[in-house]
Amino acid sequence: MADKHRKIVLTVTKTTLPDFDQFISILRRAWSKGYVTNNGALVQELETQLRQYLQSPLLWYCSNGTVVLQMAIKALQLQPGDEIITTPFSYVATANAIAWEQCRPVFADIDPNTCCIDATQITRHIGPRTKAILATHVYGLPCNTAAIDSIARQHHLTVIYDAAHAFGVHYQSQPLLQYGDMATCSFHATKLFHTVEGGCIVSHNETLHHTLELYRQFGHIGEEYSSIGINAKNSEVHAAMGLAMLPIMDGLIAERRQLFEQYRQLLQGLPLRMLQPEAIEGLQWNYAYFPVFFETESTTLRIRQALEAAQILTRRYFHPSLNTLPFYGPVQQCPVSEQLAATVLCLPFFNGLSSTDQERVASIIRNNC
Ligand SMILES: Cc1ncc(COP(=O)(O)O)c(C=O)c1O
Repeated sequence: MADKHRKIVLTVTKTTLPDFDQFISILRRAWSKGYVTNNGALVQELETQLRQYLQSPLLWYCSNGTVVLQMAIKALQLQPGDEIITTPFSYVATANAIAWEQCRPVFADIDPNTCCIDATQITRHIGPRTKAILATHVYGLPCNTAAIDSIARQHHLTVIYDAAHAFGVHYQSQPLLQYGDMATCSFHATKLFHTVEGGCIVSHNETLHHTLELYRQFGHIGEEYSSIGINAKNSEVHAAMGLAMLPIMDGLIAERRQLFEQYRQLLQGLPLRMLQPEAIEGLQWNYAYFPVFFETESTTLRIRQALEAAQILTRRYFHPSLNTLPFYGPVQQCPVSEQLAATVLCLPFFNGLSSTDQERVASIIRNNC
């Protein structure tokens, strides 16, 4: 009886897990050697496969998508108080990484269509202490990379892309992770491609690649101690998950494309805004998220509450707008980001989401708009 009345909770994301036997058969290779971390065979194999899949020969597989941001900033060898122009519409990890390295995040407002940093807003924030631009490809949609590169070249700034959401995205015929001086990705269990916990960092010159290799493993290789470093290595258990996930990625992205189109049809005509990936020329997207933007914050919160009453969870991703957080220094104005942060809801969106659940979500939104 109890089961009959149990309410089903629909979560925002659900981790895709590979075939268990496949995972175990890969893991068994580490077991038989009794070697489970410290750049083992599975980590190296995953790294090789990721380099091929992402067409990024200078890539390191690491322990998460936050530490790779910290490594990227560390590699710039900045002074405390140096400034990095960044986006206010991202997960806190992006701005935290800047502050963690004792630099100051300077927030430039965003483009409402892509939710990424508005390249036209960057120049007016450049000052004598500006050293870099750290921009997020939000929801896997590309920043205006051409404009950002041109500004960076003109002002001698380094460009780092937080591509945590951008696994498998191609933009103008190359993987989005290939853009910028460095790009980072997260392989957290909530991400499209995951290794439970994990991440990677991509760079484009051998010297920088070697610096990042040292950072990843305490600053030494074997008995040769060369620099400071941190522990950003990942284990054989995590790599086994990645090796089991990678072959199924193209199929997962294709399925998400269908789910995305289905939501769009169900929500068409309602007073809300959805992403328009097809409006971005040269984009082959990964359908990582399904955010919707309502007209006001009160509508957003009302709909969130109505969905929660039906045991359907949403996420205000990203809220709050990072420029409003007091621990990054005096509040800087970013009205577009603040508006989007107040009105965004990411709807349940994951492989295996049923049509019935999509219809249920849409009908509650329709009845409360
Ligand atoms: C934009 C962005 N950057 C960085 C991160 C941090 O990644 P991780 O959780 O792997 O440390 C996330 C995680 O959600 C993210 O969304």
